[in-house]
Amino acid sequence: MCGIVGCTTTERADRYLLPALQALEYRGYDSVGVAIATTDGTVTTVRSINRIGDLTAQLEARTGARLSGTGIGHTRWATHGDVTEANAHPHQDCDGLVSVVHNGIIENADVLRAELIAEGHRFSSGVDSEVICHLIEQSLVGASDSGLQGAIESCVRRLEGSWAILVMETSTGRLFATTHRAPLLVASSDNGHFVASDVTAIAPWITAFRVMSDGDLVELGSPLRWIAGGVEVAPPEALGLSWSSSFLSLAADDPDFMGREIAEQPETVERILSELAPRVSTGDLWRELGLPHFRRVAVLGCGTSLNAGRIIAHAFGAFGAIVNTAVTASEAGAVVLDAETLVIAASQSGETADVLRALDELQTGRGRVLALTNSMHSTLARRADGVLNCSAGPEIGVAATKTFVAQVVTGVCLALSAMVARGTVLRAQADAIVDDLRRTPDRLENAIAVSRQWVPDIVESVRDAQGFLFLGRGAGVVYAAEGALKLKELTYRWAEHYPAGELKHGPLALVEEGTPVVVIESADGRLSANVAEVRSRGGRVISIGGPGSSIPVVDGNPEALTRSGRVSQGRGGNTFAACGPLESVVPMQILARELAIALGRDVDKPRNLAKSVTVE
Ligand code: F6R
Repeated sequence: MCGIVGCTTTERADRYLLPALQALEYRGYDSVGVAIATTDGTVTTVRSINRIGDLTAQLEARTGARLSGTGIGHTRWATHGDVTEANAHPHQDCDGLVSVVHNGIIENADVLRAELIAEGHRFSSGVDSEVICHLIEQSLVGASDSGLQGAIESCVRRLEGSWAILVMETSTGRLFATTHRAPLLVASSDNGHFVASDVTAIAPWITAFRVMSDGDLVELGSPLRWIAGGVEVAPPEALGLSWSSSFLSLAADDPDFMGREIAEQPETVERILSELAPRVSTGDLWRELGLPHFRRVAVLGCGTSLNAGRIIAHAFGAFGAIVNTAVTASEAGAVVLDAETLVIAASQSGETADVLRALDELQTGRGRVLALTNSMHSTLARRADGVLNCSAGPEIGVAATKTFVAQVVTGVCLALSAMVARGTVLRAQADAIVDDLRRTPDRLENAIAVSRQWVPDIVESVRDAQGFLFLGRGAGVVYAAEGALKLKELTYRWAEHYPAGELKHGPLALVEEGTPVVVIESADGRLSANVAEVRSRGGRVISIGGPGSSIPVVDGNPEALTRSGRVSQGRGGNTFAACGPLESVVPMQILARELAIALGRDVDKPRNLAKSVTVE
């Protein structure tokens, strides 16, 4: 995890680095720090385990040489070493020749550290990243002095693991970037040159950016020097920014990013469908990906993306009787797939290390990989055989909301289009399903309005509850899982989900007087029996469904309760399924957010979490 940024600009570097770090905070916020070259050939380093405002105060209070336009910054999600100022980046070597920020994990850090200490290096932190500083120092002062570029090249040859590294030389202010299995983007504009983990950090000052590939080394400055395989090469093609940087700040009437992103869901789905729908019933959405025929589908992902993946996998089964599975990416090592399996890797960020590792582990015998991601320039997108953009726009809140609905709708369109292309679903049948999908924005809009009306009282009534259950049957189970995930990550209260039928096999023991039990209603009659079992043990049932439920977000049509269910009959008697009661996720997002606010939590940055999980 962690976010890094560097710049060489004509104005003071902190004017860029601090807002960039603010934008990168979603990658981790355990500590933050910058190192800025001064006009007299020294470096000013400020670090804090508090938020960015602390750095501003420290920089304002400093005296001495003027700050230049060259600097590097880091926002940390702790992996090695406690959350202390000493462990905050940037780090330096023994004599302060270089300052370094690092995103990733150096897996052989302990071995390197022991070796460097034996050679006389003095470490001042407990983090793996510090070995990078001393390895570079070793080369810079060693007999084979090959300059800063050579020192960085020989340093990374010693590293195992993953890294995006920025190195700033104190005496010259030269700034290099290099990467291996971690994202880094480079951009130039009238404001200067920038390098960052994510384009959101530098979006206000650029219109296009270039993506660094594994092994690239770039020296920031005029001209930009791009080195690959030890030789200088032309920089890769620049990609344009496809969204406005206004996405990155809150407007006066936005309560927080999560609140804004929940509210954006109807228009997000509207935009996705206006782009995809015309190509679904023709089969073109699938054909344009250029992927080969497949017999089976495996969708892999983590967290919320895995939940979306379960719905997408189910859609392949329901539309085309395709054998399907959803794979927890971090456990993919044990999964056996064959070459006729289409692997759909679902990841909002496209940088999730568990997903990238899963693709490595599935190499043997796996079929083609399709990335379903919100970041078309991500590592996942570059490693996949095909890419489908879930087009949610930047999501800043750490908890995934609008990207979940975007993944579900995009993935379901993909499944339907693939089945039309192979002739399993007729065009007229697909049209009927697409027509139903086109009502999704209205359903979400209605769900937001209804939830805002009903959720506040529910929040009051469950404020002191320490544990929650989420139940569903059929398509509702995945939504129950997503609701429980949102509640625990936002409120820090225990929440578990179960297929409702499982309750009597153990979890019912958890239900006591007042235990909140959120139920995703369905037309399955057995669900009411399960709910009755909860009620008779004193459970406080909060039902999400049609009229008469505690939060009536689903329209009255009983069909709507099982929208996973029959839209029409296909050849061979297949039943068609779309995405289940998608709008039922809305009240659970709003419940989690409002309860979190009532409990004084930071809803955009829940504790211990980060949005882009680049460690395993
Ligand atoms: C939950 C959440 C996480 C992510 C998970 C995967 O709200 O945001 O569970 O869904 O870390 O991240 P991506 O989708 O970037 O691979």
